[in-house]
Amino acid sequence: MTLKKEWFHDYFNSDYGKIILDNVKSSYTIDQVDFILNVLNPEANSTILDLFCGKGRHSLVLAKKGFNMTSIDFLNEFIETLQKDARKSELKINTVCQDARSIDYRNEFDHIIVMFTSFGYFTDEENQTLLSQIRTALKPGGTCLIDVENRDYLLKYFIKETWREKEYGWLLERNKYYPKTSRHRTLRVTVGKDGTATSTERIIRIFSQHEILNMSKLAKLKTVCVYGDYDGTLCKSLSPRVIAVLKK
Ligand SMILES: C[S@@+](CC[C@H](N)C(=O)[O-])C[C@H]1O[C@@H](n2cnc3c(N)ncnc32)[C@H](O)[C@@H]1O
Repeated sequence: MTLKKEWFHDYFNSDYGKIILDNVKSSYTIDQVDFILNVLNPEANSTILDLFCGKGRHSLVLAKKGFNMTSIDFLNEFIETLQKDARKSELKINTVCQDARSIDYRNEFDHIIVMFTSFGYFTDEENQTLLSQIRTALKPGGTCLIDVENRDYLLKYFIKETWREKEYGWLLERNKYYPKTSRHRTLRVTVGKDGTATSTERIIRIFSQHEILNMSKLAKLKTVCVYGDYDGTLCKSLSPRVIAVLKK
């Protein structure tokens, strides 16, 4: 594994947790979990891996429904928050603080979910390898769900810059697309009411439907279905998301 400092070590931090994850409406998470259950149709007591789980908003709801959850994120702070919330709700969740690239499970999970554009953080080779690691971690016949933004949609409706007023001040997001590598860079600047500014940047690989399907094929995962959003519509060229359901 590479030792150089990668963008996600700076980008995902307490501020990201407060500004982004804590502001996801719980009704949105409930709708996403309903969608996950509809398309994966897990049996009672299924083992589910929530990879790149963040503070575990999906893991907590799924654990409450009785599924055996394993939740992985590399940020200790997010994993600790999830452990605290699980304890408070008397839920048992196997939490692991680990870089996703080092998962080493074999035939372990009935299902794996990768939610909220958490795929595409690494080099092209590492992203491809991760899909193979996901396949290896699935039980035979197991399914995974990979949820990313649709590149074709992002480019068609490309937003160069937004300023939003927040309770703490302002949030600026400036976007740039790199066609040679299909990378999408977002510079995020928060400006407090006292004028102090902090900035972070995200540089992710973005995918259209056919690329996700080609990569899945290379990883020997079969396509079950590809959705274009959480309303269950099938993915078209200008759907906002590519939500691929893949089977081992
Ligand atoms: C966009 S957030 C999604 C969080 C969660 N799935 C959700 O929907 O709320 C991406 C998550 O991936 C985690 N992450 C980033 N790079 C990672 C890596 N190399 N290994 C494991 N987790 C990573 C971040 O800490 C963050 O919690």
